Amino acid sequence: MSQSSEVVVRVENLKKWFPLRRGLSDIIFRRPRRYVKAVDGVSFEIRKGEIFALAGESGCGKTTTGRTILRLIEPTGGKVEFLGRDVTKLDKKEMKEFLRRKAQIIFQDPYESLNPRKTVEDIVGEPLEVHGLVDTKAEKREVVSKYLEEVGLTPPEDFIFRFPHELSGGQRQRVAIARALVLEPEFIVADEPVSMLDMSIRASILNLMLDLRDKRGLSYLFITHDLATAKYVADRLAIMYLGKIVEIGPAVEVIDNPLHPYTQALISAVPVPDPRHKIGDIPIKGEVPSPIDIPPGCRFHPRCVKAFEPCDKEVPELREIEPNHFVACHLY
Ligand SMILES: Nc1ncnc2c1ncn2[C@@H]1O[C@H](COP(=O)(O)OP(=O)(O)OP(=O)(O)O)[C@@H](O)[C@H]1O
Ligand code: SF4
Ligand SMILES: [Mg+2]
Repeated sequence: MSQSSEVVVRVENLKKWFPLRRGLSDIIFRRPRRYVKAVDGVSFEIRKGEIFALAGESGCGKTTTGRTILRLIEPTGGKVEFLGRDVTKLDKKEMKEFLRRKAQIIFQDPYESLNPRKTVEDIVGEPLEVHGLVDTKAEKREVVSKYLEEVGLTPPEDFIFRFPHELSGGQRQRVAIARALVLEPEFIVADEPVSMLDMSIRASILNLMLDLRDKRGLSYLFITHDLATAKYVADRLAIMYLGKIVEIGPAVEVIDNPLHPYTQALISAVPVPDPRHKIGDIPIKGEVPSPIDIPPGCRFHPRCVKAFEPCDKEVPELREIEPNHFVACHLY
């Protein structure tokens, strides 16, 4: 493992609240504006060469966290430091020259994220052109070929003229990874990068991502529904519930020794070695409450089988319960 102690991303109390549209009656009766609190005070660090996974049920705020860190969405509050610089304070020029070069994103569905009318050469080469890093077509082809080789699309001549529909799902995701790599980033947000792929090719894409981490010291924010995938790739794992992190620690430790009742419910419902199971199917009592009306105190309390006296009043803070293993729960 090539992980070091150098912090690449530091997120502090990050918030993203989406304002709800106000109806006429809201305006007439002067009701206060309401928000979807998609991310509601999240803090963590990602170190150089580290794969940091974010898991939790659908709608808990994983994607919004990833996109807000990259300022694809503007944060409502909090701070994001990337390579020591405050991302929220970058101007347009710095965004282009620093953040858009040094940090990249890979999406769940490579078919949607790749322009269907462009060839592989143009898709992978586009960031090089946008940033003025190649002068001639020959130069572009040479650089693109190098990255196609790096992601296992060999020989590159067999791929550069193809269109996305002429590739398999796995090959398309390799193209998306090559496109993310051409600007030599330090950090990649991978948002469910294998969940659309056939089971048989998931491992090869995950292994490619692990290799790239080892070779290049890349850091990842790895967003996933799937705890088996998190256990396979991640160094550390954070479990999110309704916009907050409830547990965070070494991935194996969080999965083999979950401490938060929510994580325990997820794990007990999901035989982790079986990657067919998804977090979505867990038998916790009740439904996930709306992120508009978040329960007071511990936001998990209406569904928690262990809830007790302080849980509906006091917000539990994340505390280190075991070495490097943090939990937000009044039981500890
Ligand atoms: N642009 C938006 N406007 C309003 N609400 C939004 C917007 N984007 C996301 N949300 C809401 O924010 C919450 C978090 O969404 P997000 O997509 O971050 O969840 P997620 O954990 O990535 O879910 P999934 O696992 O389904 O991808 C959801 O309630 C979602 O409906
Ligand atoms: S704080 Fe209370 S309600 Fe929340 S998870 Fe812990 S025991 Fe359950
Ligand atoms: Mg998502």
